[in-house]
Amino acid sequence: MGGNISSDGSVFGLHTRATSYVFAVDPAGLLRHLYWGPSIGDVGQFPVPALAEVSTNDPVAHLTPQEFPAHGGFRYFETALRVVLADGSRELRLDVAGHSVDGDELLINLRDSYAEVDVDLHYRLIADLDLIERWAVVRNSGVAPITVEALASGQIHIPATDLRFTNVHGHWNAEQQQFQQQVSYGKIVTEMRRGTSTHHHNPYFILDSGAGEHHGDVWFGALNYGGNFKCVVEQTQYGSTLAQIGLNDYDFAFVLAPGDELRAPTLVIGHSDSGFAAMSHRLHEYGRRLMRDDRIRPVLYNSWEAATFSVNCDSQIELARKAAQIGIELFVVDDGWFGQRHGIFDGLGDWYVNEEKFPDGLQPLIDEVHALGMQFGIWFEPESVNPPTELYAQHPEWIYQVPGRASEVSREQYLLNLTLPDVQEFVFRSIDDLLSRHPIDYVKWDVNRPIAQAGTERSLWKRHIDALYAVVDRLHEAHPNVLIEGCASGGGRIDFGTLRHFDDVWTSDNTDAYERLTVQRSYSFVYPIKAMRAWVTDVPNFMSQRIIPLRFRFHSAMMGTLGVGLDLNEASDAERAECASYIEQYKQIRDVIQEGLFFRLRVQTSNDYQAFQYLLGDRSVVFVFLPQTKIGFHGETPRFRLHGLDPQGTYEVRTDGSGSQRSKVQESMGAAADSDGAPAGDGPTRHSGEYLMHHGLSVRLVGDYASTILEVEQI
Ligand code: GLA
Repeated sequence: MGGNISSDGSVFGLHTRATSYVFAVDPAGLLRHLYWGPSIGDVGQFPVPALAEVSTNDPVAHLTPQEFPAHGGFRYFETALRVVLADGSRELRLDVAGHSVDGDELLINLRDSYAEVDVDLHYRLIADLDLIERWAVVRNSGVAPITVEALASGQIHIPATDLRFTNVHGHWNAEQQQFQQQVSYGKIVTEMRRGTSTHHHNPYFILDSGAGEHHGDVWFGALNYGGNFKCVVEQTQYGSTLAQIGLNDYDFAFVLAPGDELRAPTLVIGHSDSGFAAMSHRLHEYGRRLMRDDRIRPVLYNSWEAATFSVNCDSQIELARKAAQIGIELFVVDDGWFGQRHGIFDGLGDWYVNEEKFPDGLQPLIDEVHALGMQFGIWFEPESVNPPTELYAQHPEWIYQVPGRASEVSREQYLLNLTLPDVQEFVFRSIDDLLSRHPIDYVKWDVNRPIAQAGTERSLWKRHIDALYAVVDRLHEAHPNVLIEGCASGGGRIDFGTLRHFDDVWTSDNTDAYERLTVQRSYSFVYPIKAMRAWVTDVPNFMSQRIIPLRFRFHSAMMGTLGVGLDLNEASDAERAECASYIEQYKQIRDVIQEGLFFRLRVQTSNDYQAFQYLLGDRSVVFVFLPQTKIGFHGETPRFRLHGLDPQGTYEVRTDGSGSQRSKVQESMGAAADSDGAPAGDGPTRHSGEYLMHHGLSVRLVGDYASTILEVEQI
């Protein structure tokens, strides 16, 4: 839609709906980046002068902003490729050897004729989203093996300095903690070295120059990969900033036999000249298109927090009955149903149903769940094995290990060497058998420790992830209707690689509804809400010990794909009825939440409100939270300006009966109600689109952990 690739053989233009990305073969024969930003249709006007060295210490090859610089020659910035050739040298010079255009794809072939190494640079337009996918394939065209020691997916050149870098840091139970850092001289490096989880940094870069949600330049890129990655942002001495992202070169070496090739993960890049919201919208839609299954996600129940490993047929049936009563659509049995799994010490790898807990197998529970009108799901941690298991006794050679050294456990488990074909087959069979024998609709695929003691093979970091994706894809092929959730100790699998292969992501084991707002907000910068699983769990919260009202807990979890993890046996009838009403409301609005545009609303108040809007067609849903009322701001009625409405349209605003309530004392002091004159809960109000977008929606909350959901619909 609206895109095209222009090429006169030396200047190439990749044109999306509103952006252009331009590079050329320069007089030195190098592929030189020229431009990335708002559309410029005529690429013929770009000058490609021969570059002059700044000094003998800053030679031309170092200054040239190459599309894919390789290690060698006078190149001292980060390079995208480093190869050890058969003679031990690392010298490469990549010249343009050819190109081809096929629809929305451009292929540039770079070649070092002396070393007989080829690199194919692929670019694919996603024109309507103003995004470009790019990936690189390095090929050994010679007759002797070579070793790839570093391979990035791409290098990006931004003609600006003093940018701001945004990413997340975190760890288990504290995922998606956004940070922003000024880029200056030197490098910012974010990476993952653990093989299996992206808790600590996420495989994307966002660089902006003074941007806000709706203004300013933002350049961004995200990998389709959940394995070891490295992102380097480097401000040069020549007025530009480089961003490079791809496979991590940490402990990495990939031998290519003659004829073999290695593909770097797909990188999606984009430029927004209207701030972060536009970036998020494009990436959300990109993520939704990656997702294999476009069904609206069901409301699930999972008893992990309520029961941990103490699952058995009778207690799960009891929970299932209560879950069905409150409107749950998918009942998931978490950890503890298999092998001798009574805690973290045993069971992983023995994927047979535990007979003490399920004397007649899983079928009676599944039958009951289905009879109650719900789907059935089950937890696996297929990449792991506990030392006491039958699997480990039979196959001690299947784990990652260094011969002669004691193998180290984490969470009392080893990791299976998924690069071995026998292990891949075992993992596939374990899940496939269960899915073939029982009508199962959902699998939660977890992993709870990183790779360590990786042995002698330095390619396995990549091979593990490739094998993981291949097994998951194979399961999808065999069981196309089964949704598979990607989880790694909570939110360790949040990335576009996961979304290409899994159907949902578990966002965090941190289910504290207040902290979750921070996690979810950061998540929303890049990843689609439709994949963001969020549960309502018991109070005091198991980690924070915070006691948050059920209403706020539901509202926080309703911002994503809703799940419930409450101990429903302990809940009172009144609490269960309250749960049922939120779930009912969620079902009415979830299409807007899961598939709508998402806005992080500006909060024009000195109090600590957080507000978010979802928009789908003529319907909008607005969430407003006030975790804590500050003294002195009780009387303030903040306004939240909405986005994307029809200015001339008339909208009905319905509240859910919470909103501002004035106490008797407030009334006696003449304290104001909402500035729109209607305390929330008093029935719908009507406003024009332009009023809601420019003046804003007035919402006043009081108390701690106050929250409300407003439904806005054009009439
Ligand atoms: C991980 C997951 C949890 C739960 C446990 C089970 O921590 O993130 O949701 O499944 O494992 O052991």
